Amino acid sequence: MSKRETWATRVGFLVAAIGSAVGLGNLWQFPFKTAGNGGAAFVAFYLIAVLLIGFPAMLAEFVMGRRTNRNAVDAFTELGHRQWRILGAFAVVTGFWILSYYNVVGGWVLRYIVGSAQGAYFSAPAEYFGAVSAGPEAIAAQLVFLGIVVGIVALGIEDGIEKATKVMVPSIVVLLVMLALWAVTIDGAGAGYAYFLTPSLDAMVENASTAIPFAVGQAFFTLSLGMAIMITYSSYIGADDNLLFDGGTIVIVNTLIGILAGLVVFPILFANNIDPALEGGAGALFVAVASGFGGLPFGELIGVVFFAVVALAALSSAISLMEVTVAWANDNFDISRPVLAVGIGLALFVLGLPSAWDTAYLTWFDNMAYQLLLPLSVLLLVLFVGWVLAGDAVSELRQGAGSLGSFGPIWMWGLRIVVPLFVAATLVLGFQTMFLGEDPAFFAPF
Ligand code: PHE
Repeated sequence: MSKRETWATRVGFLVAAIGSAVGLGNLWQFPFKTAGNGGAAFVAFYLIAVLLIGFPAMLAEFVMGRRTNRNAVDAFTELGHRQWRILGAFAVVTGFWILSYYNVVGGWVLRYIVGSAQGAYFSAPAEYFGAVSAGPEAIAAQLVFLGIVVGIVALGIEDGIEKATKVMVPSIVVLLVMLALWAVTIDGAGAGYAYFLTPSLDAMVENASTAIPFAVGQAFFTLSLGMAIMITYSSYIGADDNLLFDGGTIVIVNTLIGILAGLVVFPILFANNIDPALEGGAGALFVAVASGFGGLPFGELIGVVFFAVVALAALSSAISLMEVTVAWANDNFDISRPVLAVGIGLALFVLGLPSAWDTAYLTWFDNMAYQLLLPLSVLLLVLFVGWVLAGDAVSELRQGAGSLGSFGPIWMWGLRIVVPLFVAATLVLGFQTMFLGEDPAFFAPF
């Protein structure tokens, strides 16, 4: 078997991982949840959740990948814990499941770039969304999105994913900054900012029962954890990067992009007197924000740029998820990467068909993933690294990071106790929602 690939540059890994983290969650969840749950106070709270839960869990995936240079399943074998491979397989399946409908949503986004250029949804946004989000048109768009993802992944780590994300991620930042600067000039800017960020402890306390589970769930969703992505991406690290630094950078950039998104969407909503008290999710972008473009000068252009940003964010997340399965297949079968990518792409297409046909299926797929599969997967992975891998994980983290001081034991006890407690609590809530018919304590991202 040929030599396993690595990232060509250190930045390559970082940028690809940021591309994975920055996705739809940042654009259609974070801003709206922030606004509804206490503004800047919620941002502070959310950062604590990310640092307490997301960051330690991300490091756990990093050490597994970098130590073994293997896909998420065989990493367990390589670590000398073959009997735990089932955890890796579960994470891979979770990612595959999620990607099946993520592609459908990616298709909508591409469709909206075209729709914006034509002003197609300006007069009746909700009807337009209803028409393009399901059925044959959605399937066609899903295929186009999936085709791009397969094409990039087929080219490999260095020539495909690294090159692509090195263009995509900076483009996301530049375009979002430009949109945010433009947003300063429109009428609703002041009201929009105030709505988005004015700190309110009252709102936070009042909504704590939904804001806390959301922050916990988002802490691992937004960092792409529990889907074996970070295990896979870090398995291509050649040199000894400082994983602490990389992880910190990803957390910071990822949060800043969510904030930037808020600085764009709320001025647009307020300029058009659109009710911003939304739950976030698909309707927030494709109906509410979209309907704002029609009422603005150069609405077509703004719409195209905005949905281009969304598309780049979705693509760079989708390729990371595709790579998980492709890496597993590539490590195990003597079949060329492009053939594997196309084959896996076809399987994803078929699994995504129900979601593309009817959004009710998409919602169900998403709820299964977000309420059950993801938290369970994160829980099992952190327990494995905390209790089974333990000291080996700490010594791996030390590579490239120098002395960890007291962070080593703190990290370990975080993985053993703190993270599992929070994640188990979201799992219980998710279980109640899915099987006991209780109202969701938090909403799935789509
Ligand atoms: N981090 C991504 C987001 O915030 C989550 C994700 C990654 C989803 C990869 C699917 C695929 O949207």
